[in-house]
Amino acid sequence: MLVEAREIRKNYRVGGETVEVLRGVSLDLKEGETLALTGESGSGKSTLLHLLAALDSPDDGTITLDGVFLQNLDEAGRARQRRKTVGLVFQQFNLIPSLNVSANLAFQARLADRHDAAWHAEVAERLGLTAHLRRFPEQLSGGQQQRVAIVRALASRPRVLMADEPTG
Ligand SMILES: Nc1ncnc2c1ncn2[C@@H]1O[C@H](COP(=O)(O)OP(=O)(O)OP(=O)(O)O)[C@@H](O)[C@H]1O
Ligand SMILES: [Mg+2]
Repeated sequence: MLVEAREIRKNYRVGGETVEVLRGVSLDLKEGETLALTGESGSGKSTLLHLLAALDSPDDGTITLDGVFLQNLDEAGRARQRRKTVGLVFQQFNLIPSLNVSANLAFQARLADRHDAAWHAEVAERLGLTAHLRRFPEQLSGGQQQRVAIVRALASRPRVLMADEPTG
């Protein structure tokens, strides 16, 4: 199993009030499988994705990412496991504004120690970005920026791709 979540609970504290967002979510994701999370705005999709990607920790429940129990890791260990395993496309794309498209792709892959220029060229080509590699994020349309974010997420050849609102 690539991703296993068991009875995940997550609350946020907002000005002395507790907001229960996730109340016992379980899911399994196998290699090669596709899973779509749907739900109305504010229902907790991004919150769940961030937990599965080891960006944040649940208040209760367990998450296993590619065989590793996340709660046994400290922050640095979670970051390592995330870089090794997960490609992440954020709802706000989080491209680095001072880097052109090409450098945005390389930066992410270097963090994971998996820079591979031939692979970058291939995924950029497949997502129709070859003509835009020298542009900066602010010089791209919303859909183009989103495709850069997807290519960047794939740049390190992750085991699992997690995308927040990828068709937005
Ligand atoms: N850092 C935070 N602090 C407090 N409340 C938060 C925080 N992040 C999210 N929330 C609240 O948690 C709930 C779930 O938010 P989340 O972003 O996970 O929803 P979503 O399903 O991704 O929504 P959307 O479809 O609009 O992207 C919302 O009620 C939101 O207001
Ligand atoms: Mg969201």
